[in-house]
Amino acid sequence: MITDRVKELVSEIEQATVSNKEQLEAFRLKYISKKGAVTELFDNLKNILQEDRRAVGQELNTLKNLAQNRFQDFQAALENAADSNPEMLIDLTLPVTPNLQGSLHPLTIVRRRIIEIFERMGFNVSYGPEIEKDWYNFSALNFADNHPAREMQDTFFISKSEGDVKDDVLLRTHTSNVQVRLMERQKPPIRSIMPGRVFRNEAISARAHCVFHQVEGLYVDKNVSFKDLKDTLYHFAKEMFGKDSKIRLRPSYFPFTEPSAEIDVSCFICKGKGCNVCKHTGWVEIAGSGMVDPNVLENCGIDSEEYTGFAFGMGIERITMLRYGINDLRLFTENDVRFLRQFEGA
Ligand code: PHE
Repeated sequence: MITDRVKELVSEIEQATVSNKEQLEAFRLKYISKKGAVTELFDNLKNILQEDRRAVGQELNTLKNLAQNRFQDFQAALENAADSNPEMLIDLTLPVTPNLQGSLHPLTIVRRRIIEIFERMGFNVSYGPEIEKDWYNFSALNFADNHPAREMQDTFFISKSEGDVKDDVLLRTHTSNVQVRLMERQKPPIRSIMPGRVFRNEAISARAHCVFHQVEGLYVDKNVSFKDLKDTLYHFAKEMFGKDSKIRLRPSYFPFTEPSAEIDVSCFICKGKGCNVCKHTGWVEIAGSGMVDPNVLENCGIDSEEYTGFAFGMGIERITMLRYGINDLRLFTENDVRFLRQFEGA
C-alpha cells in the first residue's frame, strides 16, 4: 500500500542524520532527486483509484516537503560547522605552495668562518663604533697630524674640530679603532679579533666600494714575537683555504706596526701554477700585519718595555671573492637573489 510506504519514508527521513557532504548527497539522491524515492511515489500516483488520488497526493506533498526541509536543514548545519571550524574549508589534497628557504649572505658565511678559526686559537671578539673620533682611527695609531695616510684612506669626515684634529669626527676607515679602545680599557694579555664595517670615500666599481668589511686581530702580551704572528696567520690560511696552503710575508708599511708585512697565501685555485685569480703569480694577498709599534702601546697606556704585540687586518669581501671566485664587489650589495641563492647550504 502506497500509504504504508509513505509512513515508512516519513519515519526514515525523520530519523536520518547527515554529518558530511557525502552523506548529504546520498540523502539527496535517495529521497529528492529525479530518481529518488519520493519522485517514484509521485510516478505511481497514476495507478491509484481516481477517488483516492487527491488524498494520497496530499500525503505525498507533505512527504516531499519534509524531505526538502530536512535536506535544507542538513545543508545549513554543515555550512555552519565549516564556518566555525576552518579546517573543514582546507582542501588537504591541494598541492602545497613552495616555501622558499632563505640563505646566509656570503659575507656572513665567511665572517663567521673567520671568527670560528680565531676563536679556536683563543681569540675573543670585540666590537666598536663606526662613527669615531680621529684619535681612535688615526692619532692613537701613530698617524702624525699631517700624515699622508690620512689622505690615503679617503676619509669621510662628519665634523672637523676648530682646534685639535684628534677631535675630528669621522666614519672609521678601518676597525683598528677597536684595538685602541680595547688597549685603553684592558690590561694585557689581550687576544681579540674585531669584525666590522668600514668606510672610505671611493667610487663604486668591481674592485672598490665606499662601504666594506674587515676583521682585524690584536695579540698583546709579554714576549709576543713576529714568529707568533707568522704561525697564527699560517694556521689561519690552512684552515680557511686548505691544509696545503703556504704563506709568504712581504715587507710593507703601516704607521701603527713596525716591522710591517703584507701576507700572501699560495693560490688555492691553481695550486701555485698560475691563473687569473692570482694573476699568474701563484700568490694572492690576504692581509696586512705587523708588530704593534711601541708608540701605539704607549698611546694606549701599555708599557712597551714590558709588553709586545702583533696586529693584522683583512678584508672580508676580498677573502670571500677569493674563496668563491667572485669577480665583482658590487654583487655583495645588489641583493640579486640569483646571486644569493647560490650560497644556500654553503
Ligand atoms: N688597518 C689596516 C688597514 O685597514 C690593516 C692592518 C691592521 C694592517 C693591522 C696592519 C695591522 O689597511
